[in-house]
Amino acid sequence: MAFRADMRIATQVTVSVPISAGMTLNKDFEDAMAKKTADGPTNVDELSPEAAARELRRLGSEIAHHDLLYHQQDAPEVSDAAYDALRRRFDQLAKRFPDLAADIDTTKNVGAAPLEAFGKVRHRVAMLSLGNAFNDDDVAEFADRIRRFLGLSATDPQAFTAEPKIDGLSISLRYEKGLFVEAATRGDGQEGENVTQNVATISEIPKRLRGDDVPDVIDIRGEIYLAHDDFEALNAAQTAKGAKTFANPRNAAAGSLRQLDSSITASRPLKFFAYTWGEAEALPSDTQMGVVTAFGRWGLPVNPLMKRCETVMDMIAVYDDIAAQRATLGYDIDGVVYKVDRLDYQDRLGFVSRSPRWAVAHKFPAEQAETILQSIEIQVGRTGALTPVAKLQPVTVGGVVVSNATLHNEDEIARKDIRVGDHVIVQRAGDVIPQIVSVVTRSGVSRGAPFEFPTVCPACGSHAVREVNDVSGKPDVVRRCTGGLICPAQAKERLKHFVSRNAFDIEGLGDKQIDLFYDAGRIMAPADIFTLAERNSRMADKLEDQKGFGATSVAKLFAAIDDRRVIGLDRFIYALGIRHVGETTARDLAKAYGTFDAFADAANRAAEARPGAAYKRFVALPGIGRKTAETAIAKTVAKAEALTNLAAVGASLNEAVLQLKIAPARGASALAEAFEDIGTFVESARQAEAQFPGEAFLEFAMLDGIGEVVTEEVAEFFAEAHNQTALNALLTHVRVKPFEQLETKASAVSGKTVVFTGSLQTMSRPEAKAQAERLGAKVAGSVSKKTDYVVAGADAGSKLVKARDLGVEVLTEDDWAQLIAVR
Ligand code: IVH
Repeated sequence: MAFRADMRIATQVTVSVPISAGMTLNKDFEDAMAKKTADGPTNVDELSPEAAARELRRLGSEIAHHDLLYHQQDAPEVSDAAYDALRRRFDQLAKRFPDLAADIDTTKNVGAAPLEAFGKVRHRVAMLSLGNAFNDDDVAEFADRIRRFLGLSATDPQAFTAEPKIDGLSISLRYEKGLFVEAATRGDGQEGENVTQNVATISEIPKRLRGDDVPDVIDIRGEIYLAHDDFEALNAAQTAKGAKTFANPRNAAAGSLRQLDSSITASRPLKFFAYTWGEAEALPSDTQMGVVTAFGRWGLPVNPLMKRCETVMDMIAVYDDIAAQRATLGYDIDGVVYKVDRLDYQDRLGFVSRSPRWAVAHKFPAEQAETILQSIEIQVGRTGALTPVAKLQPVTVGGVVVSNATLHNEDEIARKDIRVGDHVIVQRAGDVIPQIVSVVTRSGVSRGAPFEFPTVCPACGSHAVREVNDVSGKPDVVRRCTGGLICPAQAKERLKHFVSRNAFDIEGLGDKQIDLFYDAGRIMAPADIFTLAERNSRMADKLEDQKGFGATSVAKLFAAIDDRRVIGLDRFIYALGIRHVGETTARDLAKAYGTFDAFADAANRAAEARPGAAYKRFVALPGIGRKTAETAIAKTVAKAEALTNLAAVGASLNEAVLQLKIAPARGASALAEAFEDIGTFVESARQAEAQFPGEAFLEFAMLDGIGEVVTEEVAEFFAEAHNQTALNALLTHVRVKPFEQLETKASAVSGKTVVFTGSLQTMSRPEAKAQAERLGAKVAGSVSKKTDYVVAGADAGSKLVKARDLGVEVLTEDDWAQLIAVR
């Protein structure tokens, strides 16, 4: 297999330092260096202590300056050789005058983590994101969902607010007794960075809130942004200085806020809109509109386009109106946000995962642009999936410079017949990864050859295959590397996932460092992260002596690793990188099992109780449900002899199945199509009978939010011996904290498993479920021995019967209301 020259391999590309336009200065720089040192004696032995002190200070600050440009701004001004010359000179002087050099820290800007300088702030109320609506139907569906959840009739009033969605960065501002005391970025939603000093320089943000209804404590939340003309002026000034320009106002605002030097932030005219709140001691109103109006009275900037809407038609009208003004607003917006106006409704609606049920972002349609596809890069993910990525000639799409786009998979490339060199249309919608919509073909213009998708892994050379689904018999859309443990790309991706922000979140250990440490053999598996410091202390080639590191940054890295030796169960499960176990699922699992031991025990038992392929084949037949399939298997085994007799007299499989009532007509034809003859059918059913999922597997799958697909993946992960080994190694260094339920109140039902059945009178089923969960209960879909309560509404059926059979306590809706009211 030969790679095409234009197919760059992501995992093998060495990290190259971006070269700024100023790099032609190298020669001049080196000349200047030579001249400077020539001013005084170059020979270190001849230098006076005063001259040496002067030179050390100058070198120290120059090194720090170049480190800053290289490590933190990705914009070096000098070549590596020139930089090394500076360092060598510094080291020579330091050797001769160690006392003079002792106070000069040349490592302070090393490492790509300028934010280490900011402390962390734990948000008392999580900072969430918003669900999206892309068209009018989605908006109507959002309003309907809320009506259903709250049990409102079609004629009950249901008001919303509508306001622009500002494309900036969200911030939480704490005011105590009306005084601004702290500002924090969103971070991962639970914990952000303390940017108080910098935010204090933003003149639009009042230092004191004025009014007699300002609560003692309130976290004001909103968006920091940069207006278009300020953005243009900033970029012009950057260009004039020869400094890096920003791709769009949002990046510029983010860059301005994350300055270590507040005077830089102060020089950037950042602006702010307040639109919601976190912790608040008492609110000035019982509606969204009322609270935001109070914000305005208190002196906070609020968006003048915010409106109250009574109907979905009103909401769409405001959206159209805001969309029409978009180009002339003077700042970037990317949609309209609708929020339920009544705050008591907001409370009842609560949250799903990371977004409130009571708000949605109605996004503006995607924007498109034409550019050239320069190459197709194949990336290898942590599960071995080969993902094609389009490398584009950079193009501005809706204000953002795009140079990468997803190509999804090989079928997609073939379907759209995308070839390297083609003119293509890229589309960008909100935060979604840009996509290639189509190829622009022009007659008479010749094109390159069709793209050949590699059949071996670009990272390890193993075969890359499209697994054939054992049930449907169709090849999977994804081609995967079969290298498993030997594939360095997969190993690196797993490690990157492990240390990523929502997993172990180790500061100073990002993608770049993982690549570096993996290639150097220092970190090959998660457990190695936690022995890195100890091994380093015994090694001859110490990390602190290597380029790009220094004593300070290495010490910081080791401290950051030590910080993570204790970790929450939800993050830990997520960090394992099990397929289909994203953050929400990891949280659901953590919530359900509480401790790592309980989770691992359940997962191990689920692994032993996994259904086999023969069983799965029956269950997945088209037009057959699980029940029909299971009944058919049982009946086939029981009536094996009768079936064989029918085969002997020449009956077809379809006839035999119908005659012996093994399955109804539709099921019979599906079975007949799937199995060749009666003999193979009987044999398959016998195998399937021995491969039913066991109780432990079904229990796991029955957990709220889990299901069989996830259970299969978790079971498979635990069934692999090498995963167990890696896990055990890891657990000798890491303590997994039991899951802490945020925002749930202690109640009579915490930790209990509840099943709701029948139609409830006082609440909709989803609201009852959400409320029970807020009180710490688990809500299950079906009744088992483990159920604590069954809450039965009118017309309860089989679940009620089962509860009585199993002796599970049955409550009426009133009983339930009383139970949860007693705290
Ligand atoms: S309300 C609990 N209102 O959009 C919901 N968010 O995609 C809190 N945003 O993280 C958000 N303009 O940074 C809200 N008028 C607006 C907004 C807005 C911009 C941002 C915010 C949030 C993100 C969610």
